[in-house]
Amino acid sequence: MLLRPLAATFCCLSLLSAHPPQKVAPEQTYRPTPAPDRIILTWSGDPATTQAVTWRTDTSIEKGLAEIAPATHGPQFPKQAKQFTAATESLKSDINEAHYHSVSFTALQPDTVYVYRVGDGVNWSEWNQFRTASAGPAPIEFIYVGDAQTDIFSMWSRVIREALLSAPRTRFIVHAGDLVNVGSTDALWGEWHRAAGWINQSVSSFPSPGNHEYPKKVFTAHWRKQFTLPENGVPGLEESNYFVDVQGVRMISINSNEKHQEQAAWLDNLLTTSTARWVLVTFHHPIFSTGKGRDNKELRELFQPIFDKHGVDMVLTGHDHTYGRTNVVTGASVQTGRAGTVYVVSVSGPKMYKIDRKPNMPRVAQDTQLFQVIRIDGDRLVYESRTARGDLYDSFELRKRKGRANQMISRVPATPELIPAPEPPPAPAKP
Ligand SMILES: [Fe+2]
Repeated sequence: MLLRPLAATFCCLSLLSAHPPQKVAPEQTYRPTPAPDRIILTWSGDPATTQAVTWRTDTSIEKGLAEIAPATHGPQFPKQAKQFTAATESLKSDINEAHYHSVSFTALQPDTVYVYRVGDGVNWSEWNQFRTASAGPAPIEFIYVGDAQTDIFSMWSRVIREALLSAPRTRFIVHAGDLVNVGSTDALWGEWHRAAGWINQSVSSFPSPGNHEYPKKVFTAHWRKQFTLPENGVPGLEESNYFVDVQGVRMISINSNEKHQEQAAWLDNLLTTSTARWVLVTFHHPIFSTGKGRDNKELRELFQPIFDKHGVDMVLTGHDHTYGRTNVVTGASVQTGRAGTVYVVSVSGPKMYKIDRKPNMPRVAQDTQLFQVIRIDGDRLVYESRTARGDLYDSFELRKRKGRANQMISRVPATPELIPAPEPPPAPAKP
């Protein structure tokens, strides 16, 4: 009777010593294969009639193919599929060499559900489904997140997945920079793509680069290979400074890492001719910093008057690894009747800094991972910031008013702020 447990113990011990668990090397985990991976939707043209998709394979795949068809209720759609040939580029990273393939589907119908797959004619991805945008203004919801940056697969995955569960019909996802900690490290991009998984295959991403996408002050080569984005910004900043008009919203990415003067002039000019009802701008470095000891004075002095002049509705940033959101604020210099912008700093990954609350910030947080959902319908914008658990942490509504700044209606929940308790005063010195 005693023999069996003893034998079992011996067996397990011998197994343990013979095969201790080994850490899988990033070269192995993130090795490209002939099968497509890192599939991601973005827009490079009109979201009502075009859709871009980018994916990765190993270098044996020299010709990428993508197929698209209007979605049917059942499995009939492949008969209607149209095939597109990809543009293919290679990227030699720190741990591998891969091919990145991209296709821009064109001549699509607005507000229509499509299915697509990518591959090489033999190895195919699954059929993924997305809906094109409406041709004109229509109700829209989208997600915005700050820095994912560190422990991306381990601790950011739950945030981006909870975000989708909170806004399952999101049209796009804004990433306000520092998607990864070292922009040239392929395994970190591997983590980022794995964390979002099929979300990226179903919803367009709208990324703006942070300083960590500039390792050693050089823009990572990964960016333009893996994201197919508009080239309608300042020359030299293609696919990092750009804009998209989607369902009555003009969404703009500024690359806050370089060429500030050129982008300020570009933005001023772009907004002078804009007829979009809502204008939101995203970039990495905050106009009003919430991280202790941090300030971007030059950026603020350059850009805030332009936001005021054109009545930019919201500015969505990251970088400070804390949360803070202003009321509708204007600067002291150039102001118009419509001047008034809501500035947000947020963080979605687990890297945390100490909070430094700025004036006019009704809600801040420290040591909290968050995502934001923004819904726009006609003259109303409803903003929600939720913690990694999905709990509502901050909310307001903006209402458009003719010739005047937006009206803000606070919806801040009656829950305590997630900030550290004030430190007790120092003990009196002993006499
Ligand atoms: Fe940053």
